[in-house]
Amino acid sequence: MTPSANEFVAIPVQAEHPYEVRVGRDLLSGVPDLVPGATRLAVFVAESPVGLHDQVRQSLTAPLQDAGLIVHIATVPSGESAKTADVLQRCWDQLGSWNFTRNDAIVAVGGGTVTDVAGFVAATWLRGIRYIQVPTTLLAMVDASVGGKTGINTGHGKNLVGAFYSPVGVLCDLSFLQTLPLAELQSGLAEVVKVGLTSDDRILDLLGTNSTSAVQPTSPVLRELIERAIRVKAEVVGQDFRETASSMAADALGREVLNYGHTLGHAIERLEDYQWRHGAAIAVGMVFAAELAHAGGYLDAGAVDLHRRLLRGLDLPISYSGGRWPELLEAMQLDKKARGSSLRFVVLHGLGDPHPWRNPDPTALQYAYAAISS
Ligand SMILES: NC(=O)c1ccc[n+]([C@@H]2O[C@H](COP(=O)([O-])OP(=O)(O)OC[C@H]3O[C@@H](n4cnc5c(N)ncnc54)[C@H](O)[C@@H]3O)[C@@H](O)[C@H]2O)c1
Repeated sequence: MTPSANEFVAIPVQAEHPYEVRVGRDLLSGVPDLVPGATRLAVFVAESPVGLHDQVRQSLTAPLQDAGLIVHIATVPSGESAKTADVLQRCWDQLGSWNFTRNDAIVAVGGGTVTDVAGFVAATWLRGIRYIQVPTTLLAMVDASVGGKTGINTGHGKNLVGAFYSPVGVLCDLSFLQTLPLAELQSGLAEVVKVGLTSDDRILDLLGTNSTSAVQPTSPVLRELIERAIRVKAEVVGQDFRETASSMAADALGREVLNYGHTLGHAIERLEDYQWRHGAAIAVGMVFAAELAHAGGYLDAGAVDLHRRLLRGLDLPISYSGGRWPELLEAMQLDKKARGSSLRFVVLHGLGDPHPWRNPDPTALQYAYAAISS
């Protein structure tokens, strides 16, 4: 049964401590119950042209004051410029000036960049205080805010400094999606496609028959897609919170399954100086991974074609400039997922059957690149 407005679905996550991801509408009034015993709350909100700060102030101030909490609301930059040591320093300074103690808590409101940095502020202030994620982009709802990976970028690359540190709750308030630009929705849906291809064929059916409803922020189809994608992520994170499974056994994937399409996707983001949206880059990366699996004899042509149809149906890119293979290969070697000297891909041996493929042979790689070159 689909819940109506004000009701939510709770998805449990078993990480270093258990917590739940709530999916619904008008969820911010639930904040005080998630942080019993807190005196102060710092709400770090993404700067945005749609006035997230005012929306949050309106929805949060009354419930927090009713609960007797002292509330400080501060904005942080949006986009990758949020994930810097400067922003971290500024947030620490603010917590210091507000006399934040170990009993107090942080609420992060924004896209994945803000939930990543605010989570890291929480992980590091007084060696760890409680925090709540309130993702406002689709990508942050289905991916970034769930799973406890927090961190910032450095001049040497993305996400190089961070911590595994779980929130006490995640509030996916679907009302935020109503102001999200279409391109951001599409970018988030690329991660949903990824979950469908690797783990949940109902997602593939939903997207195959409802690609128009999938990009409508209030549609039940989008809501089901979000819930299903979060359930899969919660389960994967519960089994391999610190992403150690793949280093324990050569054929294990664990949390690395979430990197389907990301090996080439990260390289594209790097070559494009992070001007491409993450979802667009991994869309191309997934078609590449499918062609690679096809070259290796693991995946049939029909499944490769399904990748292209689903992604094209969401207006996501499925090809990349020809002639850039040496640069892409170099960027993939640098990617932190290419641990040691091995180049690591997740490939499908059929839909819903992901496996690691370390150091694929150069002929297969070049075949896959030729197949995605525009
Ligand atoms: N921690 C993890 O496990 C994890 C997983 C995936 C991605 N990430 C990180 O997530 C980040 C990308 O997240 P993102 O795609 O959400 O990007 P983002 O945070 O940059 O947000 C995208 C844009 O949407 C705007 N925005 C946010 N909410 C809005 C709303 N409700 N209405 C209108 N505009 C809104 C923002 O201002 C920004 O311009 C990357 O830094 C990536 O590394 C982390």
